[in-house]
Amino acid sequence: MQIAKTIKEVRTQVKTWKSEGLTVGLVPTMGYLHEGHGSLITRARKENDRVVVSVFVNPMQFGPGEDLESYPRDLEKDSAYCESLGADLIFHPEPEEMYTAGFCSYVDMSVLTEELCGLSRPVHFRGVCTVVNKLFNIVQPNRAYFGQKDAQQLAVIRRMVEDLNMDLEIVGCPIVREEDGLAKSSRNTYLSDEERAAALVLSKAVKLGEELVKAGERDAKKIVSEMSALIQKEPLARIDYVKAVDGLTMQQIDTVKSPMLVALAVFIGKTRLIDNFAV
Ligand code: PAF
Repeated sequence: MQIAKTIKEVRTQVKTWKSEGLTVGLVPTMGYLHEGHGSLITRARKENDRVVVSVFVNPMQFGPGEDLESYPRDLEKDSAYCESLGADLIFHPEPEEMYTAGFCSYVDMSVLTEELCGLSRPVHFRGVCTVVNKLFNIVQPNRAYFGQKDAQQLAVIRRMVEDLNMDLEIVGCPIVREEDGLAKSSRNTYLSDEERAAALVLSKAVKLGEELVKAGERDAKKIVSEMSALIQKEPLARIDYVKAVDGLTMQQIDTVKSPMLVALAVFIGKTRLIDNFAV
């Protein structure tokens, strides 16, 4: 497995693969990989001749006061994990390689980014769309893989690909959870033992919401309020949002429909965690 730090190295390698008629799958990540990322790499491995994993903590998608500096990093461990899953290349650029002096071009999206995480993280999706667009241009993958845990991100990327006529397939993969239900996240490492136990309230709320839908509840506001009430019982939890939205537009809805996304962001201590379920 090759580790490339420059755009030129990636382009040269991908060009060779493409000239041999091989397909390329891309798994964009910010590193500190866990089994959630592992499931994306494994799926990419099954569906493509070559697999590229990008490991880049993208400064552009972090707002002031967010965890850019403290975001966990461990390239050595990530490399061993990628290799064990059969990845062919890791793209691990420095920020200066991605954002050269004078950089001033962005991919900005309205509507979908103005709800949910976009409200509390106003620059986030501009950073995500811009870097993902750059990664697509650099790697030119046939398919790119994203987790359903970041459901709004997945919807935003699908919209961007559609709107800007990008020639690749976006593959969304199911949330991977710890045995007790907590959704896998690189940010789980921030949690103390007490916070780790409290964080279970997110997946419990998701389970409650899913059960209500299964039992035939059609009032989306009632589902959201029951989930919120459950979270509020946990003293270490502070709700950022719990919302039911249209699964494509991310606009709030009052009645259960398909596709629908019920998404939540909750602070456990200082750590902001997200979870969701889709209908
Ligand atoms: O989901 C992530 O890890 C990031 O937002 C992504 C898609 C790699 C872009 O930096």
